[in-house]
Amino acid sequence: MEVVIYRTYEEMSQAAAREIAEVLYAKPNAVLGMATGSTPLGVYRELVRMHKEEGLDFSQVTTFNLDEYVGLSPRHDQSYHYFMHENFFKHVNIPPQHIYIPSGTTNNYKAFCEWYERRIKECGGIDVQILGIGSDGHIAFNEPGSSLMSRTRLKTLARQTIDDNARFFKKREDVPIYAITMGVGTILEARHCLLLANGKKKAQAIAQAVEGPVTAMITASALHLHPSVMVYVDEEAASELKMREYYRWIQENKPGAPRS
Ligand code: PGA
Repeated sequence: MEVVIYRTYEEMSQAAAREIAEVLYAKPNAVLGMATGSTPLGVYRELVRMHKEEGLDFSQVTTFNLDEYVGLSPRHDQSYHYFMHENFFKHVNIPPQHIYIPSGTTNNYKAFCEWYERRIKECGGIDVQILGIGSDGHIAFNEPGSSLMSRTRLKTLARQTIDDNARFFKKREDVPIYAITMGVGTILEARHCLLLANGKKKAQAIAQAVEGPVTAMITASALHLHPSVMVYVDEEAASELKMREYYRWIQENKPGAPRS
């Protein structure tokens, strides 16, 4: 796990977008794992800018989203289908048939989840998985206590997640209580993971995920079991990291970096 601290959310987002663009330059038909929420919005904005201004091409890209609320149709303005379309897909040139998002409206969740797992494998596996972190330490909707080997499944949301996400709905009772989510085990099979966090509200979760023990109570901590993870945070999200000076020191002294 490599931690990089950026001065601002914009710098963090631009760096993450650059990293994804590098993957696409090397492998134009890469499979990207997408996340929703407020955290990755800056990355999507920057990728859209690169597409429009620099010709970054998504025509061969395939995407798999991490999760979706159960019970919301793709047209509901708080569904993750809608979020992805509005904030990313409608601005770039990914063929619609290459876009996969868990269904919130299937009548056979078990079969759907098995199919979703199978499609990821058939498409060659996820090359880069973008991840946010919940204030309870979750990745995707893998709430505290989720098995670190879990696969795509129906999950009951934690009260804290419902409270956190209530800001997007008219009232708290409108927040769905179930979601379909990739499992921790599914995420750990991505070739590379990019965990992003910004703001003071994420500082504790980031400290627990990065410097605490690996535990199912903080599912982001499972990323320590993965060999290729970058953690991009802004100053506020980094504020409770005990070793932050060391992380800065590592960045300043990367092998090959000029010595001042
Ligand atoms: P946020 O959500 O980006 O809206 O803070 C992150 C998450 O819950 O995974």
